[in-house]
Amino acid sequence: MSAAPTSPKAPAISKEQAEAIYSRGLEGIIAGETAVCSIEQGGLWYRGYEIHDLAQNATFEEVAFVLLEGHKPSPAELARFKAEIVAERPLHPMVTSFIESAGGYLASGRAVPMDVLRTAVSILAHTDPDAQSVDNAANLRKAKRLLAKIPTIIGHMQNVIDGRAIIGRELGGDPTLGHAANLMYLMNGEKPNKDYARVIDVSLILYAEHDYNASTFTSRVIAGTLSDMHGAVAGAIAALKGPLHGGANEAAMEMLKEIMHDVGERAIGTKAVDDWMQKAFDTKRKLMGFGHRVYKNGDHRAPILHKMGRAIAEKDTKNPGGHAAVKWFELGEQVQKIMLDKKTIHPNVDFPCGMTYFTMGIPVPQYTPIFVASRITGWCAHIIEQHANNRIIRPLSKYTGEAPRKW
Ligand code: SDX
Repeated sequence: MSAAPTSPKAPAISKEQAEAIYSRGLEGIIAGETAVCSIEQGGLWYRGYEIHDLAQNATFEEVAFVLLEGHKPSPAELARFKAEIVAERPLHPMVTSFIESAGGYLASGRAVPMDVLRTAVSILAHTDPDAQSVDNAANLRKAKRLLAKIPTIIGHMQNVIDGRAIIGRELGGDPTLGHAANLMYLMNGEKPNKDYARVIDVSLILYAEHDYNASTFTSRVIAGTLSDMHGAVAGAIAALKGPLHGGANEAAMEMLKEIMHDVGERAIGTKAVDDWMQKAFDTKRKLMGFGHRVYKNGDHRAPILHKMGRAIAEKDTKNPGGHAAVKWFELGEQVQKIMLDKKTIHPNVDFPCGMTYFTMGIPVPQYTPIFVASRITGWCAHIIEQHANNRIIRPLSKYTGEAPRKW
């Protein structure tokens, strides 16, 4: 006699309980588990390593290894990892010719780098022998290829925007340069000085991972259907582009440029900036680079990058946007103070990032693609984790529509 049909598995929580904990935008809701990262008001840890410790003592390649492999690399493991990444830097001609064909659209601004990067990542899938596999080893191989190739895509995009020959077409840059320095070299053909290279390296460490932020959660939802890593990363890039998320680093710099244009350099430190900000408050304007869904007493990453960025700005003789580099930090610090005094809202990591990248002469539309070049490590760590212990992510919704009615 076959066993009586068992009743379908009872839902984890009842409809009443679900309604009681409903929160718009999933604010404050635990939507899953992860061993990759922990963020609290009091701190930020990647695989247990605290962010100040990493920013002070690690390189981005070491942090990428920790996020993807779960442990600190031995010298031999690190050497092998670096060699794998350098070897994977070059792009397949299918990708390079796409970027070159998009050159006119990019140069005119009709196509934006974040969208071209998203498309290029999709094309990478067509040339990746592991594309359709979701097993751990294949995922790890794909993660390293994406980590290696995204800086090359960014560099080639900047070359076609500048109307110059592709730098490092064969080797994906200069094999003797580390990851961060090579990213800069690919964009403008100059090997950055060690201060700039270290600041870029630390910015990549700070941007690498941040638990269930919107783009990472997007990548987990896509991976949760057992779809592939390239698709999950393409979705994550689309999510990160938004000005409420990663796109804020570009928007924050554009906002500072707008203030500088409106008040003029001599007005920095005067009431003119306060008046500009008050007008923004009166018109309910979202000030980019400020606020955070989780951090309400400040983003641990922001002061680290602000300090490093200001230090190179003070030493710098260049005049980005026609103003001494340090002027941007003086203006930024006044804006920060007003936000804190008037709104008790702290800057997030995107605010110092804008000023720092601007000081280093990085074109504004490449700020969020550089965020991708870093966050690819966090996304891939989460995609690997989701595939390794998967449950499809499918929440409920609160219905607010029409009552049932006859057609
Ligand atoms: C990143 O999640 C992550 O971890 C993201 C990230 C990561 O590493 O992955 O940290 C990276 O995306 C950082 C955030 C970058 N985005 C911005 O800088 C855009 C500007 N910031 C805001 O849009 C906002 O602060 C968010 C999106 C960051 C947070 O959104 P919340 O949680 O819905 O905002 P809140 O509840 O803390 O704010 C409450 C109120 C707001 O109410 P609303 O008008 O949104 O209903 O505080 C005010 C506002 O009145 N407020 C702001 C403000 N942020 C909040 N007012 C003006 N300017 C702001 N930036």
